[in-house]
Amino acid sequence: MAIECPIYLTADNTQQWIDAFARQYPHIKVLDWQHASRPADVRYAIVWQPCGEFFQRFPNLEAVFNLGAGVDGILCHPQLPREVQVIRLENAGMAAQMNQYFAYHIMHFHRSMDTYQRQQSQQHWQSHPGTPAGDFRVGILGLGQLGSSVADCLFKLGYKVSGWSQSEKYIEGVQCFQGADQLNDFLQQTDALCCLLPLTDNTRDLLNRHTMGQLPAGAVIINAARGEHLVEDDLLELLDSGHLRGAVLDTVRNEPLAADSSLWRQAGLIITPHCAAQSWIEPTVKQIGNNIDTLLAGKTPTGLVERNRGY
Ligand code: NAP
Ligand code: GLV
Repeated sequence: MAIECPIYLTADNTQQWIDAFARQYPHIKVLDWQHASRPADVRYAIVWQPCGEFFQRFPNLEAVFNLGAGVDGILCHPQLPREVQVIRLENAGMAAQMNQYFAYHIMHFHRSMDTYQRQQSQQHWQSHPGTPAGDFRVGILGLGQLGSSVADCLFKLGYKVSGWSQSEKYIEGVQCFQGADQLNDFLQQTDALCCLLPLTDNTRDLLNRHTMGQLPAGAVIINAARGEHLVEDDLLELLDSGHLRGAVLDTVRNEPLAADSSLWRQAGLIITPHCAAQSWIEPTVKQIGNNIDTLLAGKTPTGLVERNRGY
């Protein structure tokens, strides 16, 4: 008999996920969480930002699959039981999307597209000499599944790449820094700061007046992790003062961004609506389905979150 696996989504495409599981894993009966016929028998669930009462409904849950890479939206749930395993997406098609997102924006600044857009608005025709990619220093905060992929992609495009992580890393062509002690050294040699950290107590508000002030004058920031990494008022101040040349925010503290937010109108700021890398159905279903089979076989799944460290 198929096992019932409830799904909770914030988007309105639940049926597409149910159909994809039915096609690929007919022995896993994914169904809308409100339609679970035997909630006490449910061992595994699939969620994105579940509502308040979700965990009370399934008292014997053993593992919950997060429909994204970042688990901040589930770890903050007040009713998430301590003993439930949290399993996140690892890449699942997102690394390639992140590579494209960062390559696009890095080239935007490196090839002076911000300057040319401004010139166009002034009907001003003037070319600038430009610099080799190897002279443009890109620094990546977070060298995990996504950050290490972006680092490798940008290195292969010829950029001078460095990265910062919690533990020591070795990535070909990438200068690796680690730990709080090396953060300032890392920032001081970064022209384009890319954020791909998980949101934890240690990384919330990490991009503030002090840390962004360590970047060389004229640096740019691209945040595609979480809005709460960045103190938005500090960013606006550093853009206005000219210390920062520009920024790209794919995530903001309050999503969706309110129509009256001053971020929309800030010169030098590009906003995208949390779309840098999305959880596409086919690769996501494959990863979660394989992991459910792993759990059913009594083995350890991949992507297990360390609850104490928060990612
Ligand atoms: P990951 O594999 O867990 O990698 C996280 C990286 O951050 C690791 O290298 C880790 O260091 C480092 N790190 C964590 N805390 C740190 C600290 N206090 N100091 C220094 N380094 C620290 O995560 P991922 O799969 O790459 O995803 C990263 C984040 O991207 C997600 O958490 C999510 O918020 C965001 N995201 C955004 C979108 C979007 O569309 N905007 C899409 C997907 C994901 P160690 O390797 O040493 O542990
Ligand atoms: C998206 O933001 C994710 O964490 O996968």
